[in-house]
Amino acid sequence: MKFTKKVLAIVMAVLMVSFILPVFASAEADTTLQFGEDGKFQIMMFADSQDDEELEETTTQLMRKALATYKPDLVIYMGDNSVAPGEKQADAIAAIVAPCVEAEVPFTLVFGNHDQEQGVSNDDLLKEYQKYPGCLAVDAIPELYGCGNHNLTILSSDGAKVAFNLWLVDSGTSTEEAGGYDYVREDQIQWYKDTAAELAAANGGEVVPAMSFQHIIVPEVYDALGMMKIPVGIGEWTFDGQAYLPIPNFGSYTGYVFEPPCPSHINGGQMDAWLETGDVMATFYGHDHVNDFTTSYKGIDITTVPTVGCNSYSNDINRGVGLITLDESDLTTYEYEALRMYDFALAEGSKILECEGALSKISYQFNKFIDGFLTKLHELVSGFSLPTFGK
Ligand SMILES: [Fe+2]
Repeated sequence: MKFTKKVLAIVMAVLMVSFILPVFASAEADTTLQFGEDGKFQIMMFADSQDDEELEETTTQLMRKALATYKPDLVIYMGDNSVAPGEKQADAIAAIVAPCVEAEVPFTLVFGNHDQEQGVSNDDLLKEYQKYPGCLAVDAIPELYGCGNHNLTILSSDGAKVAFNLWLVDSGTSTEEAGGYDYVREDQIQWYKDTAAELAAANGGEVVPAMSFQHIIVPEVYDALGMMKIPVGIGEWTFDGQAYLPIPNFGSYTGYVFEPPCPSHINGGQMDAWLETGDVMATFYGHDHVNDFTTSYKGIDITTVPTVGCNSYSNDINRGVGLITLDESDLTTYEYEALRMYDFALAEGSKILECEGALSKISYQFNKFIDGFLTKLHELVSGFSLPTFGK
């Protein structure tokens, strides 16, 4: 009898170890970001999915196909993620995170100007996201302006050190004070500076190279794009006291500026803080759904990610997802690619063509042709720029 009890106890212990250990191991795997054995780390961005609980089938299939094709290490939802009325927001979130959950890809997010407009606070929306495995988003300091400000570090492939850092920042909504779209506030910027200093201190005094992600673009984009400065504002395009005509210098960017970018009219000093700190090499935004460009301001890249959402205002030519590839052998640079929906729709085995609301095969082929044509045209006119008359 005693012997039977002993055997039973040993069997139970073995069973517990074999069940419990993998749970802890997988919990760690879910929350630790690390460069792969090949030295690479890929981040996929889904911007402005902006749909209700009945997410367009084409959006779901676009996300699924992109994840299956590239198998990224992390997904970032770039804001204006879900816009279902009231309590239906929970179902809308379930729909947009489903492709990541199915593919077992960890994800995080920033909020846009529309997420909390549906009667559920961003605090409560964040709790919904956190119910799903792989969600890495947290509200690091709840007292800070906005919700969900946090950073995620990526370990080197040998796990010996923090090799890279990602800033996820809430750029707010629309406020009367800002006369339109919101901006990143002083307390958030101070948190960024303090945390970057802590990371640097733990890294032998060297800043940890980083990228920053938020929904609403910074006002410096108007200077980066070489928008015409004019002495008196004649439209809504006055930022930080400077009026512009929204006509870019074609040589100042790659990709598309299909609409004037929409930053806040107030500059909270976020770009200055990045420049002063020196860790951020590139910044990524959603918000302007049809835009899909990369430009640079004093050495910091500014990239808008085209919309992934098929049920919001967007553009069939450049709709898609953004993909960043980091290589730990040289973290002073990176690769970025805007991946087009038409390519995923035309790829072998794609289910996009079968979806309700999908375009025809010939329409996707036509979009591909137009995209190629416009890209060539842009290259031809990229030497042409207009004069500026402002300060
Ligand atoms: Fe949006």
